Amino acid sequence: MNIGIILAAGEGTRMKSRHPKVLHEISGKPLLSYVLDAAQNADISRNVVIVGHGKDEVVEKISGENIIFEEQPVHQGTPYGTGYAVMQGISHVADEDNVIVLCGDTPLITSTTLTELMEYHDSQNNNATVLTTELADPTGYGRIVRKDEGSLEEIVEHKDASPAQRGIKEINSGIYCFSGKELKIGLKGIDNDNSQNEYYLTDVISVLVQGGYKVGAFLIEDSTQIHGINSRVQLAQADDIIRERINTGHMENGVTLINPKDTYIEPKVRIGKDTIVYPGAVLEGETVIGEDCIIRGTTRIVDSVIGNGVSIESTLIEKSKVDDGCKIGPYAHLRPDSDLGKNVKIGNFVEIKKSTLGDNSKASHLSYVGDALVGSGVNIGCGVVFVNYDGEKKYKSIIGDNAFIGSNSNLVAPVRVEDWGYVAAGSTITENVGEGELSIARARQVNKAGWVEKKGLKKHK
Ligand code: UD1
Ligand code: CA
Repeated sequence: MNIGIILAAGEGTRMKSRHPKVLHEISGKPLLSYVLDAAQNADISRNVVIVGHGKDEVVEKISGENIIFEEQPVHQGTPYGTGYAVMQGISHVADEDNVIVLCGDTPLITSTTLTELMEYHDSQNNNATVLTTELADPTGYGRIVRKDEGSLEEIVEHKDASPAQRGIKEINSGIYCFSGKELKIGLKGIDNDNSQNEYYLTDVISVLVQGGYKVGAFLIEDSTQIHGINSRVQLAQADDIIRERINTGHMENGVTLINPKDTYIEPKVRIGKDTIVYPGAVLEGETVIGEDCIIRGTTRIVDSVIGNGVSIESTLIEKSKVDDGCKIGPYAHLRPDSDLGKNVKIGNFVEIKKSTLGDNSKASHLSYVGDALVGSGVNIGCGVVFVNYDGEKKYKSIIGDNAFIGSNSNLVAPVRVEDWGYVAAGSTITENVGEGELSIARARQVNKAGWVEKKGLKKHK
């Protein structure tokens, strides 16, 4: 069996955060979740997560089948090192298992690389295989020290390295594949006699080399995958890398991104062919967007389902459904549980909340539609307000098909306008409007002839 041991107990001091490092997010997803997803997609069926600092928060936020949490005791505020962390998970390992050690702060590793690492490990009959890469600037990472004939000798931490060793560009990714039995042997052989007084997992490598075991390195070219996150700067760099991966994936699937560097799309978002996304778009959560859509301006769409051929400009859409052919914005806001039928038009400065609008209905300007069931072919004029709240409770409005709500009207809920009901502009509607009726609910206009003259207002000019 393949078992993952994921190290996530460290404090992450350099993040300067109240939250554990592995819960910081890139593209809306915690670092640790990236690592777990990569492991699961590489057929690593059980994953033991070693938690310590902020463990309650980690356990609360991260859950899933086949994820086991093991606690690493913290001694006088400091953990005891990566080797010590792995020891906390070793009881889950059988001698014949392959153990893949991963770091919760190295989220960019792909499942393909993990699969290749395990295949390499098996094909070479290795007892331990280290995933390595070459970096132009290897500062901070453990260096891969090889013997003259090229085989792996040891890993030396940056802080413990000699000037000559610091010149080595090949670094330890912190990701390894071990055979279960030899991992246990190696862990028994390490101590904490180093600059940080920690049990280094890296020392398992030299222990095994000295014991005559077969140890190898699997070098990958794509060094972005081992980008470790210790600071906010590295967090932002990782976000850039992830964004490029996600956005490239969409473009390869037939989506046009006008300026991919300025388009934020979270990992779970799906987008159909021939949709065009202009810069500034923020697409989040479980959002699904259909084909042939155009998304412009500073549009943010969260957990929503958008049909085909929809055009959206500078709009916020949250947890809502928008059917084919709708035109939305600029500057509209669909709040949660809005559900628009086909070819609905929602124009400038319109807010929709928890409301359903049938096919071909329109609210083109400056309206608030809340807690309403609106039929199809309805026209909601400029400035209409669905008055749904009396300060204590919310009430529903129901508007039939082909109704016409004149500009600047208030519909005081609960209220009903039947099919083909017309409401005159400026009305405050408190009672139901029957089918085909026109309702006028405003004071009758009075014109007073000669009033300005009588008041003597003209002489002031
Ligand atoms: C480690 C490696 C280094 C490698 C680098 C890659 C060691 C000694 N060094 O260094 O060779 O180049 O990763 O990113 O292994 N952790 C625990 N418990 C602990 C200590 C750490 O769970 O007691 C976890 C951390 O939360 C983190 C991971 O292990 O997720 C790596 O620890 P970190 O302190 O960041 O190690 P590096 O100094 O980066
Ligand atoms: Ca690290």
